Amino acid sequence: MLYGKKDQKRHQSYQVPIFGSDEENREMPRYKLADEPVEPRIAYQLVKDQLMDEGNARQNLATFCQTFMEPEAEKLMAETLEKNAIDKSEYPQTAELENRCVNILADLWNAPKDEPFVGTSTVGSSEACMLGGMAMKFRWRNLAKARGLDVTKQQPNLVISSGYQVCWEKFCVYFDVEMRVIPMDEEHLSLDTDRVFDYVDDYTIGVVGILGITYTGKYDDIEELDRKVSAYNAEHEHELVIHVDGASGAMFTPFVEPDLEWDFRLKNVVSINTSGHKYGLVYPGVGWILWRDKAYLPEELVFRVSYLGGEMPTMAINFSRSASHIIGQYYNFLRYGFEGYQEIQTHTQKVAKYLAEKIEATGRFEIYNDGQNLPIVCYRLKEDSETKWTLYDLADRLLMKGWQIPAYPLPEDLSDILIQRIVCRADLGWNVAEELVADFNEALVELDQAHLLYHDDSEKKPYGFTH
Ligand SMILES: Cc1ncc(COP(=O)(O)O)c(C=O)c1O
Repeated sequence: MLYGKKDQKRHQSYQVPIFGSDEENREMPRYKLADEPVEPRIAYQLVKDQLMDEGNARQNLATFCQTFMEPEAEKLMAETLEKNAIDKSEYPQTAELENRCVNILADLWNAPKDEPFVGTSTVGSSEACMLGGMAMKFRWRNLAKARGLDVTKQQPNLVISSGYQVCWEKFCVYFDVEMRVIPMDEEHLSLDTDRVFDYVDDYTIGVVGILGITYTGKYDDIEELDRKVSAYNAEHEHELVIHVDGASGAMFTPFVEPDLEWDFRLKNVVSINTSGHKYGLVYPGVGWILWRDKAYLPEELVFRVSYLGGEMPTMAINFSRSASHIIGQYYNFLRYGFEGYQEIQTHTQKVAKYLAEKIEATGRFEIYNDGQNLPIVCYRLKEDSETKWTLYDLADRLLMKGWQIPAYPLPEDLSDILIQRIVCRADLGWNVAEELVADFNEALVELDQAHLLYHDDSEKKPYGFTH
């Protein structure tokens, strides 16, 4: 090839060091497009540098979402980013992997062999909860109309404990359902099943049981709830159903407490959601929802689109999204198998218990969750604590070592209690946990000896925790 003068200039531009290039040495427009393109290597560095002070995701112990996948999984996901999950006819093998994942989950959640389960992937548990909620609402309406109930007389309602995740509030607002919230109290840090029926009437579309309350990691007693729902159903024409929000627990409990009955073994549990990106061990965003029997998913919610080529039934709020996370989920299922998941989850719980022990040993904290149920450690300062600092200060101190461990008040009726929560995930290995304990103990000493002036009341303030 022959080069001219201009070509030489272009060629030379690749020799310019990134931190010496024009683009790096001037302010790039932030809120409108620049006139000219930027070389890829410089664009990469500019974007990467923008993200530099955001913290290290693996030290972000505020989130349940996965921050580690194996290099082979990452490669596979990177290689399949361009596949659109909705194009089932164009990518039939991808659709088959999604189908296998649904079947694997049905098996894991003990779907009865004699009932035709159905399910789908979603972007996460939030979308899955919307779909589960809608299915309950539509089915309730169809049955209520058939019974001659005036469905316009009162707004339909959903019953849930105050430990709900915000997606349920969104569901109720977006889909015009009244949210009936059963308060939690010191004795009931999960659903108080004795009070459920004070909130239920003919307009109740369903009760949500939470397998792993976001705030504390505790499980609602779904077996007990199921027993009480059966007793209610035996006496009422109105059929009450249970949806289990297993965003975290549904991919954790089957491996760690396989004998705990919370899933389709319970007759009134009609649908379950989970986040593949939590204890399913995939990067965000993939979720799943399954119905024990297609009878619980009203036909009018299922759309058949022919322009994808073929007639594919779909139920989703979104249309296009990458299939790479579904493929990542299938990779994990294939790679780990039951035993692999069990080893990872058991190890994660062991780390949580170790952290809880160490935190309790300081004598400063009352432990709310010591890694029982979900592998999270949740604690408050002891009520008679004489420390002048708060958990917000402790969170700030830990942040200096890169740890993101939020402090926040419990939900309504318990909002006087300020807690702090450490979410243990697979990649919080034993050695990293030991580093955390050392940093934690050091933070306590530093806070005790700090010369800064303290605030004298423990003002409740939002602390960047929005889960
Ligand atoms: C109990 C529960 N439900 C739903 C969600 C929403 O999950 P996602 O982030 O997958 O939409 C969460 C997230 O933390 C959760 O803990």
